[in-house]
Amino acid sequence: MTIALYPGSFDPFHLGHLAVVRSVAPIFDEVIVAAVHNPQKTSFMFPLAERQELIRQSCEGIDNVSVAEFSGLVVDAAAELGAQVIVKGLRSSVDFELEQQMAHLNAAMSGVLSVFVPSDPEHSFVASKFVREIANLGGDVSSMVPAPVAAAIAARMG
Ligand code: PNS
Repeated sequence: MTIALYPGSFDPFHLGHLAVVRSVAPIFDEVIVAAVHNPQKTSFMFPLAERQELIRQSCEGIDNVSVAEFSGLVVDAAAELGAQVIVKGLRSSVDFELEQQMAHLNAAMSGVLSVFVPSDPEHSFVASKFVREIANLGGDVSSMVPAPVAAAIAARMG
């Protein structure tokens, strides 16, 4: 049984993230989407529990996907969750440079394999940082995020 860990901040979970989940779900027995708990980070759009709930709602219908949280090293989370593979989405060569270095570090620390998934071209420009910025400035992000996230953002923005 091969379990893949897809770690991220997911603040918020957007359609690029969902495309990654959809791409890898048929390949692995189980995909665990794990939202990071970062006590150092004080400014976020959604608290951890809500991020997890929005991921759960967004991935509804994809049977082998579950949602978790983690703090600390990604490799430790992978070991705790029984995952043999770490999944990362790549939007650009900039993502690749950073993710390749992290993949090597993670492999050096634990031997875990990282798998890179190219982003869905339709959403390759979407990033959580910009979704937050657009939403905070009153823009419409409904084409960039799954419906449950769009509803939560709309509720939050009043
Ligand atoms: O881009 P995101 O979604 O904010 O990424 C969050 C996370 C935790 C997946 C990313 O920051 C990451 O992979 N961090 C690595 C933390 C770690 O284990 N560092 C040690 C070796 S690289």
